[in-house]
Amino acid sequence: MKGHPLQGRDFLKLLDFTPQEITGLVDLAADLKREKKEGKVHRVFEGKNIALIFEKTSTRTRCAFEVAAHDLGMGTTYLNPTDSQIGKKESIRDTARVLSGMYDGIEYRGFGQEIVEELAKYADVPVFNGLTNEFHPTQMLADLLTIKEHFGHLSGIRLAYLGDARYNTGNSLMVACAKTGMALTIAAPRKYWPEEALRRTCEEIAASTGGSITFTEDPLTGTHDVDVIYTDVWVSMGEPDQVWEERIRDLSPYRVDKKIMDNAGKEAIFLHCLPSFHDLGTGIGREIHDKYGLTEMEVTDEVFESSQSLVFAEAENRMHTIKAILYAMI
Ligand code: CP
Ligand code: NVA
Repeated sequence: MKGHPLQGRDFLKLLDFTPQEITGLVDLAADLKREKKEGKVHRVFEGKNIALIFEKTSTRTRCAFEVAAHDLGMGTTYLNPTDSQIGKKESIRDTARVLSGMYDGIEYRGFGQEIVEELAKYADVPVFNGLTNEFHPTQMLADLLTIKEHFGHLSGIRLAYLGDARYNTGNSLMVACAKTGMALTIAAPRKYWPEEALRRTCEEIAASTGGSITFTEDPLTGTHDVDVIYTDVWVSMGEPDQVWEERIRDLSPYRVDKKIMDNAGKEAIFLHCLPSFHDLGTGIGREIHDKYGLTEMEVTDEVFESSQSLVFAEAENRMHTIKAILYAMI
């Protein structure tokens, strides 16, 4: 949209945005969602195109970018982990300059945050982070929209995150909660807490927004009376298979089960970025079952399928929130 205050900006991590900019994007997504359901057509970017680079696999993020772009009238090109020259035969810097000549935006999912930052540095068009090892900012907008739809506000909401908090989802959630004045508790073994520098940064942000960040190793203390329970997989994309045994040992006490949900507030909801290992319906889930005897991992099937679980509304919101960042920044 011509004239949006965020036009031309990159979307690399929430730390780059003010609280007002973040809540503004959530509200824009809510408007676009309502209007789409009313049948309004938003083909404001007819003739524009976006490149979608995925060096890791995806269902939600890829589909959300494709549907959002098409709803806005844009064309898309999907570059998968094996079919492009990126990183192997062509540097990120050269790729950025090639794609800038053909596209109006570039989405990148991959490994280190420094790669997407470099892409943005050399691209002349907005770059969108579709997940790195360190951050998953588009996921956060969907989570914030889902929480706001349910509770009517963000500020003051008490959210507990259980599990591996030192990867993309945990790190980003800490930033998202700090920026929006939420009270976050991370319940995880100390070695899975986000790194100290990011913790300090987020504590400073939280002090200015009325939010708070608390760390505990006790899952029951951490989840007592909270409004939102959130978890993610124990082993993330790109991590070696050898870490499974240690993760299962370390993180099993933090599995989200009925006891955890009953310990949370009466109206508490359950969120998960997905995909999730809550049954034996996946190849990896069955492999882990055969090797370690587990039938469910970070969340029980009972909680995942319960009425408190809003994971599929959250997944739908990936599309509406990604549409909002394209609409604002292209
Ligand atoms: N939550 C999320 O990013 O899902 P995908 O890996 O399927 O994109
Ligand atoms: N932490 C997970 C998030 C998936 C959306 C991963 O990186 O695999």
